[in-house]
Amino acid sequence: MIGLYPGSFDPITNGHLNIIERSTKIVSKLIIGVLDNCDKKSFFPLADRVAMIRESTKHLKNISIITFDGLLVDCAKINKADIIIRGLRNLSDLHFETQLDVINKKLDNTIEIIYLISCDKYLHLSSSIVKEIALKKGDISKFVPEAVVERFRRRDIFKKTSSIFNT
Ligand code: PNS
Repeated sequence: MIGLYPGSFDPITNGHLNIIERSTKIVSKLIIGVLDNCDKKSFFPLADRVAMIRESTKHLKNISIITFDGLLVDCAKINKADIIIRGLRNLSDLHFETQLDVINKKLDNTIEIIYLISCDKYLHLSSSIVKEIALKKGDISKFVPEAVVERFRRRDIFKKTSSIFNT
């Protein structure tokens, strides 16, 4: 069975990684679909988001990473996915996912979406919270894989270097 785990991953968090690891035990092949959405302004460019996922999932065998910019159901069909997998943390996720589920079923009712409830330690974790902590110089190492900590560090170094050049 092929599973598709889609998302923005801006950036990948330990919560996403936990869903990825658990999904690889359910499906024989897991495709991680990274949304290339020009309308939705992302903090990290697509190539960086993909690179961070690649570096964070090196220990997993049965995964591949793709990018997509069309409909999720089309991405699932093109990549021959049998199921779509999404994580659920709370009621606001449930509200959003219910809407997504209904719309996706109206677009293509042949693909099933399954939901994995987040582990309690990741229930309050999101990419937005990670970005906020990092931008305010807080320690994000408990919340994200090392590849993400490294990317934030690089951006910081670049900012400092450019301000030296600008003075
Ligand atoms: O990590 P996210 O941002 O919660 O992921 C949302 C995602 C990528 C699953 C959703 O935005 C999506 O499926 N986008 C593709 C466009 C699409 O199919 N839209 C119709 C269903 S609402």
